[in-house]
Amino acid sequence: MTALIETRSISKAYRGVPAVNQVSFTLERGEIHALLGENGAGKSTLTKMMAGVVQPTGGELLVDGRAVTYANPAEALRDGIVMVFQETSLVPSMTVAQNLYLGDESFFNRLRGLYIAAQQFLQSLNFNVDPWATVATLGAAKKQMVEIARAVRQNARVIIFDEPTASLTPEEKHHFFALIRRLTARGVSIVFISHALEEALQISDRITILRDGEHVSTDLAANFSRERIIREMVGRDLTGALYSRSRARLPGKPALDVRNLSMGQAVRNNSFTVYSGQVTGVFGLIGSGRTETAKIVAGILKRDFFHGGEVRIGADPVRYRVPRAAILDGVCYVTEDRKLEGFFETMSIAENLQMGELTARSHSGFVLRMAEMQTLADEWRNRLAIRSGDADARVIELSGGNQQKVVIAKSLVQKPSVIIFDEPTRGVDVGAIAEIHALINRLADDGLAVMVISSYLPEILNLSDRILVSQRGRIVEEFSPETATQENIMYAAVH
Ligand SMILES: Nc1ncnc2c1ncn2[C@@H]1O[C@H](COP(=O)(O)OP(=O)(O)OP(=O)(O)O)[C@@H](O)[C@H]1O
Ligand SMILES: [Mg+2]
Repeated sequence: MTALIETRSISKAYRGVPAVNQVSFTLERGEIHALLGENGAGKSTLTKMMAGVVQPTGGELLVDGRAVTYANPAEALRDGIVMVFQETSLVPSMTVAQNLYLGDESFFNRLRGLYIAAQQFLQSLNFNVDPWATVATLGAAKKQMVEIARAVRQNARVIIFDEPTASLTPEEKHHFFALIRRLTARGVSIVFISHALEEALQISDRITILRDGEHVSTDLAANFSRERIIREMVGRDLTGALYSRSRARLPGKPALDVRNLSMGQAVRNNSFTVYSGQVTGVFGLIGSGRTETAKIVAGILKRDFFHGGEVRIGADPVRYRVPRAAILDGVCYVTEDRKLEGFFETMSIAENLQMGELTARSHSGFVLRMAEMQTLADEWRNRLAIRSGDADARVIELSGGNQQKVVIAKSLVQKPSVIIFDEPTRGVDVGAIAEIHALINRLADDGLAVMVISSYLPEILNLSDRILVSQRGRIVEEFSPETATQENIMYAAVH
């Protein structure tokens, strides 16, 4: 039996720098094959070659045993190969239904038909998404679901998922895995890229590990352990527990005080305080109003939607109309949606940091020169281990996890006194998670008021000096690290 997809010593170089170097890989019919590796290891690039998104610079791609070259994703789709991207590729201004049937609208002679079909289709997948909703208004999880639904609808034989579960809730993940199993039962083959190693171990039949663009190993998932995966991904044993708690810090002065904040259905009479010199963790399921609250505080959500309540920075009541006003007061929000609002994608790392820096200036006048910016960029590249092919690489050319690090660096050059991280380690590899956590701890040690929004409980438990639980638009409970357990936090978030 020939493999469904085979790459033979396939390579991809960008401006002479190899992103994938002579990788041989096979995908068998009906299997779930996990592709693992650090940020920048070449996972997305390898799969993009299979899906016709980028073209190899060396080696061969075989589908059903026959050598193929795909000039674009449409040609790969004709062979039944679909890729669901790490960064969403939906049209934000269109509705869910329109996105699902993009290009096939002519099947429906009435608009209503389109929505009914979309509704039924989404229900058949167990996806709770409103087909009438405009994609721009959806959270990351729902966008991901639309994206998955679209691939399923295109009758794919091979679906490549690039970090599909990063923004899903535990329940949504459960549905997603059930869906994947149903698909494989129907003969669909799956490539699954993830930084959630336990998930990969659980869901996949085989695992392939890449490091620095090269193939390290392929084996049955049953032959892997978490330790073996990490060792092969990183090239050494990671010392120390990934999620070990630091000592709890005592609260400093109240730095951010939110009183009875409301906005439509998303934020309902929400009140809480964040103190300097501490990490305040906010746990909640997606849709529990955490992001909206943070965005109101940081002046990102427009004031027209602002229905009531009060926000104080230090002792001063504030109502920011634009993010810049917040940044000038030292309030920064590090976005969960890096593609949409995190960075300027066609600029280099240094230029992005410069833009960040400029925004934080209240007056013009002395501006850092590019050479100084470059030094600053080098410094951050080192501190956050940002990997880019070359120093001038545009941010769009970085791997997903490395883009996330640029988003963080861009906020930190603004020298905030209150910083809100929204899902700071989404899409970041195990080694880099430890680096980002260490950085967040240092910020709190340096006296900043740090708020970390996360749907990942081990992250909240590890980082927080206090834990707030958000549910249906408001903070419903507070835990100290001593009283917090996975179970009681989850219980508070759900009940
Ligand atoms: N369009 C591009 N131009 C230049 N370099 C690129 C481009 N796309 C990717 N690269 C480089 O190729 C390497 C591999 O990137 P890739 O996106 O495949 O990594 P990844 O394993 O998917 O990482 P992550 O887990 O962070 O998503 C990186 O060094 C990246 O900077
Ligand atoms: Mg990637």
